[in-house]
Amino acid sequence: MPSSTTAARRNTRPAGVPSPVAMFFQGFLKHPVMVGSIIPSSDKLIRKMLGPVDWAACKLFVEYGPGVGTFCRPILERMAPDATLIAIDTNADFIRYLDHTITDSRFVAVEGSAADVERIVRDHGHDHADYVLSGLPFSTLPAGIGPAIAAATHRVIRPGGAFLVYQFSPKVKDFLTPHFDTIDHDMEWWNVPPAQLYWAWKD
Ligand SMILES: C[S@@+](CC[C@H](N)C(=O)[O-])C[C@H]1O[C@@H](n2cnc3c(N)ncnc32)[C@H](O)[C@@H]1O
Repeated sequence: MPSSTTAARRNTRPAGVPSPVAMFFQGFLKHPVMVGSIIPSSDKLIRKMLGPVDWAACKLFVEYGPGVGTFCRPILERMAPDATLIAIDTNADFIRYLDHTITDSRFVAVEGSAADVERIVRDHGHDHADYVLSGLPFSTLPAGIGPAIAAATHRVIRPGGAFLVYQFSPKVKDFLTPHFDTIDHDMEWWNVPPAQLYWAWKD
């Protein structure tokens, strides 16, 4: 549910800035392995993935691999006025694009790796995250990075919080099972390509 009326917001595109779809495709052409997809996530995937989030209990939401912000806008619409969204992406072009197109006092775009989430969360004045969302292409990340990200994510989430993961391959679950005992699963066919959805809860 949209809940913020007080936070300063502007989710518009200044003249000369490409559309999200065009920008995403440019990013894919430049870094195909790191981006891992040619078009952004569908609205149906976004709604289903964010469905179980308890927004009233969310003060810090972290997103890995926001790309052009497909999830950032719906997250900001649902987030409380005093909550924060930190979006972390290794792609400097995407971070610049987010900074140009999303001006919301609750939003922070960070150029960096999800593997450094604990330091990034600390640097922004928090000691844990309530929810972490990942659109990272886990299976094509450089060796060792996927397991390191999964371990750091488990450490940074508060008890009762969750790691939300969407991915084209069910292999991503192998990264979650060493850390999370309770993992819910669903699929979204209305996405290119169809996606596996996981909600890994921290007990
Ligand atoms: C599939 S795309 C994201 C799609 C987007 N979230 C959406 O819903 O349309 C994957 C993103 O992960 C980013 N990425 C890859 N490795 C990363 C890492 N180690 N840390 C943070 N972001 C990373 C890429 O730059 C890219 O923006």
